[in-house]
Amino acid sequence: MASFLPRAAPCALRFATRPVLRAQRPAAPLFRRGFATPPVAEQPRLRLGSVAPNFQAKTTHGDIDFHKYIEGSWAILFSHPADFTPVCTTELGAFAKLKGEFENRGVKMIGLSANDLSQHDQWVSDINEVCNTNVTFPIIADADRKVAYLYDMISQDDLDNIAKKGIAFTIRAVYIIDPSKKIRLTMLYPASTGRNTSEVLRVIDSLQLGDKKGVVTPIDWTSGDDVIVPPSVSTEDARKKFGQDNVREVKPYLRFTNVGK
Ligand code: BEZ
Repeated sequence: MASFLPRAAPCALRFATRPVLRAQRPAAPLFRRGFATPPVAEQPRLRLGSVAPNFQAKTTHGDIDFHKYIEGSWAILFSHPADFTPVCTTELGAFAKLKGEFENRGVKMIGLSANDLSQHDQWVSDINEVCNTNVTFPIIADADRKVAYLYDMISQDDLDNIAKKGIAFTIRAVYIIDPSKKIRLTMLYPASTGRNTSEVLRVIDSLQLGDKKGVVTPIDWTSGDDVIVPPSVSTEDARKKFGQDNVREVKPYLRFTNVGK
């Protein structure tokens, strides 16, 4: 994977000092003295259902405290390896065009790219021009990889090669976070593969519908399709809840219903 990555800028060799986090798992691999080391030695575990770690960062919309920024809202945090790279440009343009779709779902957007603000501003102009759009969500400036390490948005290949390359690039990660700040879904893509915006919206629809209606969604489900009654609900209770004629029992453990969009 590392061969896909652009060469690190010389300034990237300088990392920020390490914030101290409560140790929850063993320290990251050791790096040769004198070479760039990740700013976070120990990361919180990012399990589904765990609280998304807070951080402060500079963004294209000013300084933010992440928890304050997402307060009371669904949120999507998505990372990019670097500014002025082709796949990232197409991804950010596509996310920008879907602003209305994310707003309709009450989801606050925030991107991250591993460069500083001066590069972000110029790159955003390029994205707007090339993709004929208007990027209106903030993009975190993470040249020192502080957030990338905190959220484990780094590939092992890159970590293993850090002594040679001087810096680890950021992978394409997606974190979907609910209004109680819990991580509900993660997607990790390599730098070589652009994401699928329809899939991102689809999983948000599934999570939000599941929370509202107490259902789960089958393979390839999209909004409006039949959903599944979870195993914890009896068929009798499902019929009371969703309507006598609105529960189709294929097997005692596989019951479909329709709850609309
Ligand atoms: C890209 O966005 O095109 C890209 C970024 C890093 C490595 C490879 C591709």
